[in-house]
Amino acid sequence: MKKIFAISGSTKAASTNGLYVKAITELLGKGFEVTSFPSIANIPHFNPDLDLENPLKAVADLRSNIQQADGIIISTPEYAMGLPGSLKNLLDWTVSSASFSGKPVLALVASTQGEKAYQSIIDILTVIEAKVAAQLIPYAKAKINDQAVITDNETLAVLKSTVDSFVASIENG
Ligand SMILES: Cc1cc2nc3c(=O)[nH]c(=O)nc-3n(C[C@H](O)[C@H](O)[C@H](O)COP(=O)(O)O)c2cc1C
Repeated sequence: MKKIFAISGSTKAASTNGLYVKAITELLGKGFEVTSFPSIANIPHFNPDLDLENPLKAVADLRSNIQQADGIIISTPEYAMGLPGSLKNLLDWTVSSASFSGKPVLALVASTQGEKAYQSIIDILTVIEAKVAAQLIPYAKAKINDQAVITDNETLAVLKSTVDSFVASIENG
């Protein structure tokens, strides 16, 4: 069983990105155990002064979840032409620990438009040495229903292809 750790960039309870994480979980199917990160809102503000050998528990837990996973899903909206601050904050805590180095990551931007966040997440994941399979889904809310079923065939096809790349990256070690 491959372990997948899923992070949603949205702090909303009823989140479109939460639905996309569920849809990706379905596409991954058997052989993958997906654990969702409870809330990025519980991660403290990044501070280099606190980025020590024994970090705060929330940060230590985050890093260990990333390090122990075979692959990571990040699904995020765009806020004000960039990544949500909470997600950027979380990623900043993983720089010194190199938690993402060599790690397969499926990065999804499910937003109204999302081009800037899409470029940003690729840039960040590249600099922290993740192996990235990325996809932008504009008008994302209109393409998935409340049961996390993707209702737009073209979106389903591109997401399947992104999931295939992610799985190949995990299996190729
Ligand atoms: C404060 C705020 C700013 C936003 N700015 C953008 C933006 O710049 N570009 C965009 O595509 N969508 C923007 N949106 C729309 C969200 O990305 C969109 O509603 C998305 O589906 C929310 O995903 P979620 O339900 O997973 O939180 C913004 C939403 C909020 C609340």
